[in-house]
Amino acid sequence: MEIYKFAYQIIEEAGRIIRDSIDDELHIETKSNPNDLVTNIDKETEAFLTKQILNTYPHHRILGEEGQGRDIEDEAGTIWIIDPIDGTLNFVHQQENFAISIGIFIDGVKYAGFVYDVMNKKMYHCKVGNGAWMNETQLKPLKNSELKSSLISTNPIWLTKDKLADIYKLIIDDARSTRAYGSAALDFANVAKGITSAYLTMRLHPWDFAGGLILVEEVGGVVTNQLGEPLNILEANSILIGNKSIHDELLSQYFLPHTSLLKKIHTERFKKNK
Ligand code: IPD
Ligand code: CA
Ligand code: CA
Ligand code: CA
Repeated sequence: MEIYKFAYQIIEEAGRIIRDSIDDELHIETKSNPNDLVTNIDKETEAFLTKQILNTYPHHRILGEEGQGRDIEDEAGTIWIIDPIDGTLNFVHQQENFAISIGIFIDGVKYAGFVYDVMNKKMYHCKVGNGAWMNETQLKPLKNSELKSSLISTNPIWLTKDKLADIYKLIIDDARSTRAYGSAALDFANVAKGITSAYLTMRLHPWDFAGGLILVEEVGGVVTNQLGEPLNILEANSILIGNKSIHDELLSQYFLPHTSLLKKIHTERFKKNK
């Protein structure tokens, strides 16, 4: 079976399993800090997807948030980059507004992207060159927009960090309005769908952006870090995505004037930091 169709099926199946257990009691642990949670369902979903993939494609490689593939250092072969539950805090607190995210790359070339909004049964999916879709509906090419008449999204945590707050406050002030959805993968899907025009955040890992990156590019959106550089799929980075004109506007008027500060943050925080 085509890898794309296979991926679609196992993601749907993983989503079905999550929905069936949504009322079960969770086993919750903390990771890097008391607000960084992981549940048994995050781990079980990554294990389920990994098992399905390796049963069918034993030579494929998997990089997953909950532990798969930490030794991957090059882009050779077929790599699946998996976030089993993106938006774990939403999952724990709301039992909705979370997604399964998968990006598939073949020898470093983008192949297919998936973001599955599990509780709403909305599969955002694309195979590069064949358009991006939400279930059976094709997503339209993105329309250009200006910040002052656009909805954007971000993570408000960056407003609490002194130097970054200066940049983020200006953007939020100049935008029509700003949303905070709590799932980076859904933030990417929302931009791909055109319901927000841009998404910016200071730090995401490969599993947060791998699926969404492919979706947004497929509808003509621009995906870079906040210095306008392409993302490396094996490294953490800052994120700036949007339709072409709002991306240009944000980059040139809000981020590039702070190039030296941003370069310092990028060098200190992101190098070899998966
Ligand atoms: C998080 C979510 C959140 C983003 C964080 C991510 P997780 O992923 O995508 O929206 O702001 O940076 O870590 O941990 O829920 O998979
Ligand atoms: Ca997490
Ligand atoms: Ca994530
Ligand atoms: Ca996750």
